[in-house]
Amino acid sequence: MNAGKTLEFPKGFLWGTATAAHQVEGGNRNNDWWEWEHRRGTIADGTTSESACDQYNRYNEDFDLVKGFGHNAHRLSLEWSRIEPKEGVFSSAELAHYRRVLEALHSRGIEPMLTLHHFTNPLWLAKMGGWENPRVVEYFTRYAKVVASELGSLVRFWVTINEPTVYTYMSYIQGVWPPGAKRIRSAAIVMTNLLRAHALAYHVIHEASPGPGCSVGIAKHIRILDPLRPGRVCDRAVARLSDFVFNRWFLDAIETGRLAWPIGMGQKVQLLSATQDFIGLNYYTREMTRFSLSKPQRLFIENLTRPGCATNDLRWEIYPEGFYRALMDLKKYARPIYVTENGCATPDDALRRSYLRDHLVQLHRAISAGADVRGYFHWSLIDNFEWAEGLGRKLGLVAVDYATQARAPRPSAWVYAKIAQGNKLDPAWFE
Ligand code: BGC
Repeated sequence: MNAGKTLEFPKGFLWGTATAAHQVEGGNRNNDWWEWEHRRGTIADGTTSESACDQYNRYNEDFDLVKGFGHNAHRLSLEWSRIEPKEGVFSSAELAHYRRVLEALHSRGIEPMLTLHHFTNPLWLAKMGGWENPRVVEYFTRYAKVVASELGSLVRFWVTINEPTVYTYMSYIQGVWPPGAKRIRSAAIVMTNLLRAHALAYHVIHEASPGPGCSVGIAKHIRILDPLRPGRVCDRAVARLSDFVFNRWFLDAIETGRLAWPIGMGQKVQLLSATQDFIGLNYYTREMTRFSLSKPQRLFIENLTRPGCATNDLRWEIYPEGFYRALMDLKKYARPIYVTENGCATPDDALRRSYLRDHLVQLHRAISAGADVRGYFHWSLIDNFEWAEGLGRKLGLVAVDYATQARAPRPSAWVYAKIAQGNKLDPAWFE
């Protein structure tokens, strides 16, 4: 790769940023996260989402920033607990709110990509057992149907579920997200319900928005998982196994329509096959994997950060090459790819800029090698509530002062603006 060469991206490429409702809106009191974060010891820095970035009220200001940066797309999510505050009761006021939000994007020439589920659940659902209760499939589908018929005319790109495997892992195996369970059996039930819910939502969205432009997928977090000690057969075996379970299982299922081992035995699930029109890729990092007898609950898999590597503030390895590897691997599904998230938790904006440059170089390399990538959404537009880490982590192109809600674009925001406006990356912009 010639470091000095300007890299041109394909015509019509989408450039934007991504956010999620609970992380930016503020005041989402009626979901399981609110309840969780107000328990002692659940959030690393002791903060709670509270008003977060108050984007519920300040979306116009934030979309002015997006427009000023010259982005042509923006990924955001709906807060299910606002839209359906009680089981079966849909709020026309909140649907009207999200209609205004989407119109605010359109009026600025920004294409929305809309996520239906980004980690939070309405409290009523959580109290009924959340994603372990088989009825969640019916509830989620009903919610998707209401939203698609109310907002479908304003949305072409839909993400049904953000990071189903991460959600299951953090909430039902690690137990650090609500409901704080550590039960592998529950995790298997939850994964299956997420799959079924996605499949039915895929169909109801298409029924509500029959136009040719409607495109539905999931956002899949892919972590490169390499053996810690490549010379050891056990480490290689658990790396392959975790790669299969964590990175491929869900994507394979929504392509083939089958429940593969270790959750199923290859049985077919009705209406599941080919339920993605594009692949949404969330890529951040790599982990090293080793065989560990002390982890029977985790199929003897232990994941570690590579010793001595460069990391971000979350101790995630900075590994741009992995972005290329992940994209090349997704080629086999023969679907258009949108990078639905990629970014760096750091208070050091110079590090964010080099992360951005190095990852976009790898993105361009993958496109040149035939990966059909059509857009890139940087995580995130603004600093926000980083789940169990709290408000202290900095992932925004724009800094937020939570006391005053003042926004201050970081230098990385302006470099990214040049990239989006020029549809190209000139390495000189990073000097
Ligand atoms: C999630 C985001 C999160 C980001 C950074 C992704 O896994 O979708 O909600 O903020 O990672 O940790």
